[in-house]
Amino acid sequence: MQLLAFDDEVPLARKLAEALRWPWATVQRHRFPDGETRLRLPPALPWGVVLLRGLQDPNAKLTELLLAAAGARELGAGHLTLLSPYLAYMRQDMAFTPGEVVSQRHLGALLATVFDTVITVDPHLHRVATLDEVLPGRRGLALSAAPLLGAHVAQVLPRALLLAPDEEAAQWVRAAAVAHGLDHAVCRKQRHGDHEVDVALPDVGVRGRAVVLLDDVASTGRTLAAAARGALAAGAASVDVAVTHALFIGDALAQVQAAGVRHVWSSDCVPHPSNTVSVVPLLAQALQTPQMPQTPDLGRT
Ligand code: R5P
Repeated sequence: MQLLAFDDEVPLARKLAEALRWPWATVQRHRFPDGETRLRLPPALPWGVVLLRGLQDPNAKLTELLLAAAGARELGAGHLTLLSPYLAYMRQDMAFTPGEVVSQRHLGALLATVFDTVITVDPHLHRVATLDEVLPGRRGLALSAAPLLGAHVAQVLPRALLLAPDEEAAQWVRAAAVAHGLDHAVCRKQRHGDHEVDVALPDVGVRGRAVVLLDDVASTGRTLAAAARGALAAGAASVDVAVTHALFIGDALAQVQAAGVRHVWSSDCVPHPSNTVSVVPLLAQALQTPQMPQTPDLGRT
């Protein structure tokens, strides 16, 4: 097995390769003046290859990813895994208005044409139960950083109340709370636009409590900011944030802090100054499980 990583993912790749004791190499890129990219892979690849590529800023990365995957096949990869700690385009899982393209379904179908397996962390699966359903005919593995974030919260704030800022985050909050014996509850959210969000607190007492908002992704930060303002207005002693994917676009972090959030803890799925919890052991364990190929599958067509 060999790990391949794009040149801007070297820190995570190095830690992961160390944990796995696997060889690793970078996908070298040259950007031509016209915006095209020349990619260079190791000239001979083993049968089993894992391509590490987080898909934050997805539009800029997808073309290179598809080219690298096709190149890896030509250079010897018989079984190709995409390891994408953040898998983009998972939120558009239905046509919310007539004519909308269901990006989750179509990106999944596209990835299924080039990868045998896709592994990710806390994909935003809401109306779809499993990642396998997103990848027709291929293997999808959705890991979760929620129990790791829960462990961190339980260690620093053993009496915290974990709050999901919306119904979709209930799955992660429940997993984190149950694993570590924390109280939890779920808010209700109404989104009116990219930056306009209302969050209603659940009917539980937050007065005097150390509240931790736990979500899969912070993008504009407006969801977390609205929930934090609500919790503080209801008398929470403190509000901290734990997220798997710290996208924090533009002024998002400033907005969250301005809403009164004290600490932001995130996993290292997306590199960010708030990274506190590492998913490297989780990823390494998944890559060493028996369903990952260790020898060529001669029956593969
Ligand atoms: C949506 O349901 C997700 O779980 C997040 O709550 C949402 O994507 C966060 O977006 P933003 O940071 O832009 O409010």
